Amino acid sequence: MRDVPWWKRGVIYQVAVPSFKDSDGDGYGDLRGLLGKLDYLNDGTPRSLGVDAVWLTPVFDSPWVDFGYDVRDYYTIHPRLGDFQVFDDFLRACHRRGMKVILDMVLNHTSEEHPWFEESRSSRCSHKRDWYVWRDGRAPGKPPNRWRAVVEGSAWEWDQKTGQYYYHAFLPQQPDLNWRNPEVREEMFRVCRFWLDRGVDGFRLDLINYLYEDEELRDNPRKPGLRPYDWQAHLYDRSRPESLEVVRELRRLLDGYPERMMMGEVYTDRPEDAVTLLGNGSDALHLSFYLDFAHRLWRARQFRRSVRWLESRIPPDAWPCYYLSNHDLVRHYTRLGRFGDAEARARVAAAMLLTLRGTPILYYGEELGMPQSRIPRRHIRDPIGKKFWPLPVGRDGARTPMHWSAGRNAGFTDGEPWLPVHPSFSRRNVAALDEDPRSLLWWYRRLIWLRRRHPALQVGGYRELKEVPREVFAYLRESEEEAVAVFLNFSSRAVDFPIPGELLYESPAWTVLLSTHRREGEGPGRQRRMGLAPDEALLLLAE
Ligand code: NOJ
Ligand code: MG
Repeated sequence: MRDVPWWKRGVIYQVAVPSFKDSDGDGYGDLRGLLGKLDYLNDGTPRSLGVDAVWLTPVFDSPWVDFGYDVRDYYTIHPRLGDFQVFDDFLRACHRRGMKVILDMVLNHTSEEHPWFEESRSSRCSHKRDWYVWRDGRAPGKPPNRWRAVVEGSAWEWDQKTGQYYYHAFLPQQPDLNWRNPEVREEMFRVCRFWLDRGVDGFRLDLINYLYEDEELRDNPRKPGLRPYDWQAHLYDRSRPESLEVVRELRRLLDGYPERMMMGEVYTDRPEDAVTLLGNGSDALHLSFYLDFAHRLWRARQFRRSVRWLESRIPPDAWPCYYLSNHDLVRHYTRLGRFGDAEARARVAAAMLLTLRGTPILYYGEELGMPQSRIPRRHIRDPIGKKFWPLPVGRDGARTPMHWSAGRNAGFTDGEPWLPVHPSFSRRNVAALDEDPRSLLWWYRRLIWLRRRHPALQVGGYRELKEVPREVFAYLRESEEEAVAVFLNFSSRAVDFPIPGELLYESPAWTVLLSTHRREGEGPGRQRRMGLAPDEALLLLAE
């Protein structure tokens, strides 16, 4: 167990820094605020969540058009979030607690306000012209090709001054860097080295499969899809083989430091792309985001299949990684809770996330059951929310302030919060849930600490249990020392079925390790049948 790296054993907690805790009353969460809340994340005892790592959304200087994903200076902390002194304090404090710190690293693009881009757009002969992707139009008024931006519209933006188009996979304010230019490559590696030398434990790599575009700018074939972006099969504008080469080089860089890790946001509708960037399982990404899992509906079959696919596809040395919520998705409390008992499902979902084989990533507030917010138009901050209003596709609803208490602004800020606090905070807040051992927060704590104590849950193998009713997702986690069986009832009805043969073969007697409905240490003993309560999550340990 000790040889297993932390990023396989541990639980990662994603903090949207501006939404977590404000320390100076400007309405934005900041590093000092976060630093003051580390006991909540991990104080070394089961009274805290007990997470092993925090992933911070971008903390670099930025005009903040896209929540910091538009970087203006990779070598400066955004003044709203803090400075190097507080960053170093934070890093040290995390390390003292045995927690790792993962930075969000945006390699694909910069802000249009980055001095590199300002230089690049200044003239066609600028020495930085080739740092970004500039091309002539096909004809007057016609962009170089039909590629679209993820946020819709052409991916090409006309630049009046120099009479060419520049490419942006995301917003026009986020011009793509030209990774074919060795100077760019060198500079971005220098950025990564700078932060590794400062002591960070790794990176979450934004849009890592978008670094390269086809050199000949070939148009994508058409295909059916929900929105215009999906009407193209993205063969030529993403997931190009060159991305893997860069990831491999990054891996060599990280391997030169002890215990570093990088996890890649592979944004795609083809889960194969996420697997590709795992390389041979030990020479590319350590962890690859599996969006497919986060897109499943609340059906046992959906998750069972999604896990089965990943388990059968990733290279033997690679390690799965799962999450249900993040700053881009509708919070899963709301998404998966529709047409059912959201609170009960949140427990089952947490049990799944924290007992599957793979590294779980939690999103701040999910442990409180923070729901998705409806943001009134005047409060919308996300450019996607503004652009598509009244379509509810903006992401602000998943980024509202953390609920610390029932006090003013949920204890998040003394000032005006940058996004409105969700009204549920009066009941659903850390102070209140902490008092109630039956709360969702305690359920997360229990699961995480249980995971820490059980090697089968942390590093054990995964075997799906097939002889169970359709509404149940069940699996075995086995290590050399022990076996844990997990039963998740996705329905709001009680189910009753013969104990799966595999379980009896494994051991004649099992006891309750944890359940949403029964006491620890209980049977089901030697009975031949199993009953699950509606929305029950049940973990059994082989005797
Ligand atoms: C993916 C990030 O998760 C998202 O929040 C951001 O807007 C885009 N990348 C662009 O950087
Ligand atoms: Mg602040």
